[in-house]
Amino acid sequence: MLFINSHTKIFSPLSNEQSGDIQSVLVRTPATVANMVCGFDILGFAVEEPYDTMQLNKTNQKGLTIIHEDNYGLSCDPSQNVAGVALLSLLEEANLKNTGLELRIHKQIKPGSGVGSSAASAAGAVVAANVLLQRNYQNDDLVRFAMNGEKLASGVKHADNIAPCIYGGVTLIRSIFPLDIISLPSPDLFVTIVHPQIEVRTSDARSILKQNVQLRDAIRQWGNIGGLVAGLMKSDHALIGRSLEDVLIEPVRSILIPGFDAVKKKSKEAGALGGGISGSGPSIFMLSSEYQTALHVEQEMKAIYSAMSLDHHTYVTRICSKGIRVTIQ
Ligand code: HSE
Repeated sequence: MLFINSHTKIFSPLSNEQSGDIQSVLVRTPATVANMVCGFDILGFAVEEPYDTMQLNKTNQKGLTIIHEDNYGLSCDPSQNVAGVALLSLLEEANLKNTGLELRIHKQIKPGSGVGSSAASAAGAVVAANVLLQRNYQNDDLVRFAMNGEKLASGVKHADNIAPCIYGGVTLIRSIFPLDIISLPSPDLFVTIVHPQIEVRTSDARSILKQNVQLRDAIRQWGNIGGLVAGLMKSDHALIGRSLEDVLIEPVRSILIPGFDAVKKKSKEAGALGGGISGSGPSIFMLSSEYQTALHVEQEMKAIYSAMSLDHHTYVTRICSKGIRVTIQ
């Protein structure tokens, strides 16, 4: 058994024996927090929990078979499955469409939760295929393939979940056409996430956004984005905290999330640096410098949703610097 990360080049580190005849790979794909509040579609980070697991096996039967080992009722038709379309785009470009493959998916990241469920499926599938089929696609290529899954899920290609899932840590997507992805330093911070058990479809959360912004709002937003990137580079937690402000998207989307204002207020009172909607919601994330603070924030989140009798899941976790983990079996 051999463990590698998604950003490990697979050929050079493997001996002939290891790279000779790979029949199966297992991947563990992290959840991701897109937008990082002010960076709509351009910033995101991976977290240690929750995560999905997938196994990609070679088979004698031509074509791709998908098996879901979870209870989310997702399509197993490769053309209607985010992992399937991402994987098919890689196979087509590699001229390997007839290869016999079986993809077994066990999701723990609930679809529609706002922590990159579709990205985990799409990114995990292409990273697994790159290793199993001994291709040497680079991370940018893998992001390009995986974005086809996002297009199926939300109607548009965006990389702010896919890129941190594959690269690990915090990523800036300066451009997607052409792809220009920059890994930023991962601060030593704790992440508290609450997922109120309602579903917000990314396509719906995008459809309500305004298409035009006021110049004064844009100025405030790019000040925050610059501040956040500088805060990450300098590991300046206070600067990170005060840059976690979104004057464009959050005021529109937060109405879809019950308890949002209370979670934000109580979390900051509990000592969180700041936070906001995770991706397109309904999950909400908060960053804290100390583990104890992150736990305190979790208690405040639980108290709010318990008082509303709204089922919820919480995670206290860290930024996942390694991205997708691959095990060759
Ligand atoms: N940037 C995307 C959005 C992320 O906010 O719509 C979706 O997870």
